[in-house]
Amino acid sequence: MLPVVVVHGGAGHIPKERSERSTEGVCSAARAGYIILQGGGSSMDAVVGAVTELENNPNFNAGCGSVLNVKGDVEMDAIVMDGKSLGSGAVSAVRNIANPIQLARLVMDKTSHVCLTAEGAGQFARSMGVPEVPQESLITEYSRMRWKKNLEPEANPVEFQMGKMGTVGAVAVDSEGNVACATSTGGILNKMEGRVGDTPCVGCGGYADNSSGAVSTTGHGEAIMKVILARLILFHMEQGQSVEAASDLGLAYMKSRVDGLGGVVTVDPQGHWAARFSSGQMAWAAAQKDTLHYGLYTGEHFTQSTEMLLID
Ligand code: GLY
Repeated sequence: MLPVVVVHGGAGHIPKERSERSTEGVCSAARAGYIILQGGGSSMDAVVGAVTELENNPNFNAGCGSVLNVKGDVEMDAIVMDGKSLGSGAVSAVRNIANPIQLARLVMDKTSHVCLTAEGAGQFARSMGVPEVPQESLITEYSRMRWKKNLEPEANPVEFQMGKMGTVGAVAVDSEGNVACATSTGGILNKMEGRVGDTPCVGCGGYADNSSGAVSTTGHGEAIMKVILARLILFHMEQGQSVEAASDLGLAYMKSRVDGLGGVVTVDPQGHWAARFSSGQMAWAAAQKDTLHYGLYTGEHFTQSTEMLLID
C-alpha cells in the first residue's frame, strides 16, 4: 500500500490564460497534502490541508475566487468524509468564512450532525472561533466579471457552460490504509440564493469508505445529485472494477442518463488512484512516493520526480 494524495481543481472549460495557474495550483496543493502525510498526518489531515490551499488560491471556484450567486453574493458548500468511521461533516450556503472545508471538519469533529447550513453554519463558525471575513475578500475581479457577463442575455455559451462547473477536491490514503475525501465549492454561477449543490451531500460531492475507497467529484451539481456519483463509483469498485474503470463507468452513466459532465479523483485503500473527467478539461495532480503526476486535458499525464516527496 502506497500513501497518496490526489487533487482536482474543477471540471469544465479553463481559458488558456488561466490553465498554467490552474496546473500550478493543483500541483502545489497535492504537494502540500503529501507533506502532511509524510509528517505523520492522517488522510483526513492531508485532504483538508490540500483543499485549504486550493480555497486560498483565487484561481479556483472555492473560498477566495468562488463564483457569485444571482445577487452577486458568495455562498459556499463543502464536505469531508472519513473512510474509517464513515463520519462526515458538511456546510452549505455558508458566507463570510475563508475556509469552508475547515468548518466542515469541525461539524464532523465537534457536533453530532452531518450538515449545517446558511446562518446556522455561520453561528456554529462563530462559536468555534472561526474568523469572519468580509465578503469582498472572497470576491475576485474575475468572478465579478463573469457574474456580470452571465447576467447579460446574450452570454457567451462557453462562459455560460463554465459557470456550471468548477469545485476543488482531494482524496488520500495514509500509511494505515485509511482513506478520506474533501470537496469545496462556490457552486454554480448565478445560482439562486440558497441553492445547495452536490458538494455537501454525502455520496454526491464525495464519499469515503475504507472497505472500498474514496472519491471527490466536480461538475454540474444537479446532474451529480441525480446519479449520486461518488457512491456510484465506489459501488463499481465493490463489484471488482479498478479505480479508473469505475470512475469512467460512473461518469459515462451520468452523461448518458442525465446529460451531465464532470470529473472525479478516486483512490482505493491500496493506493491505486485515478483522475478522470468527461468535461473538456480538469486540472488534477497526484503525489505518491517520489513522483508528482499532473494533467489538464484528456489523456494528458505529466510526471515530475521530486526529491522532496521521498519518504525516508
Ligand atoms: N459541483 C458544484 C456545484 O454544482 O455546486
